[in-house]
Amino acid sequence: MLDKVTLISEEVNSFEITNKELLEEFRLQFLSKKGKISLLFEDFKNVPGDQKKEFGQKLNILKNSAQTKFNEAQAALESSDNDSVSLDFSLPSDILPLGAQHPLSIVRNRIIEIFNRIGFTVSEGPEIEDDWHVFSALNFPANHPARDMQDTFFIEKDPDILLRTHTSSVQIRVMENQKPPIRSLFPGRVFRNEAISARAHCIFHQVEGLYVDKNVSFADLKQTLLYFAKEMFGKDTKIRLRPSYFPFTEPSAEMDISCSICGGKGCNICKYSGWVEILGCGMVDPNVLDACGIDSKEYSGFAFGMGIERTTMLKYQINDIRLFFENDVRFIKQFSSEI
Ligand code: PHE
Repeated sequence: MLDKVTLISEEVNSFEITNKELLEEFRLQFLSKKGKISLLFEDFKNVPGDQKKEFGQKLNILKNSAQTKFNEAQAALESSDNDSVSLDFSLPSDILPLGAQHPLSIVRNRIIEIFNRIGFTVSEGPEIEDDWHVFSALNFPANHPARDMQDTFFIEKDPDILLRTHTSSVQIRVMENQKPPIRSLFPGRVFRNEAISARAHCIFHQVEGLYVDKNVSFADLKQTLLYFAKEMFGKDTKIRLRPSYFPFTEPSAEMDISCSICGGKGCNICKYSGWVEILGCGMVDPNVLDACGIDSKEYSGFAFGMGIERTTMLKYQINDIRLFFENDVRFIKQFSSEI
């Protein structure tokens, strides 16, 4: 008989009540009228007289502990129902994973630092712009396709308020407000109405540069960009300028660098040409200087602009632009700020 009590108390102890169904199951098995403990009480009359006292004591202890277990489990389940789980303030907290500097910030800072050394300072402007600063002052003809709804996110029409499609708008703001010599960099976020894919995004970042002074020549532009390419991609980097067209520069060029991955031999990053396109540039069109109140007979200048995503993708061989916008620390942590 005493063994039976021990057995059932072991069952009570090992029964885990983790939900309401198990709570009811526990009640039925041990505490109900037909439950195991009630049955033991019925056995009481069969217990030999000399064992009655001990049996009775053990049985009462068993019954009380089963009832306590039931009550506590019931209370715990009810309070978790109310979302007021009792809090243990002494528990050590989870270790929050440390973030890292975003690769776009690393590369932007590096570009700024390289140009700082040759006297360029940083200027910023608004992301929400008007037609004048993004297009008209930059010598875009009235029917230029870049003004089209396909490229530009318009916020309001007549007068046009829009999200800037390039940071060239900051060139205009700086030239309107400062007298030459101007040597400035314009890093910032730009917006274009493009379908998002591995190679394009509707939001990306640019750094543009502008140098306006007396006697600024194409040779100055070329030498400045060669210096930048070597500092950014390694001292053996070569540059190549291809004629191009931008409304705000004349002449205009696109600059390629010798592929830093294969060293110019040909690989899938440079599409087996040995060269990769990195930026657009040119001599500031006299119309742009005049629109900003700078005498184009006295002053000349050069400008250049590059995509930070593209530069970062080349620098680190990243093949999907969307990774920059997901902020997955497993991606971001792979880049060191010592480049
Ligand atoms: N604004 C041009 C673009 O967004 C880049 C550029 C800047 C080209 C300055 C020439 C001079 O593509």
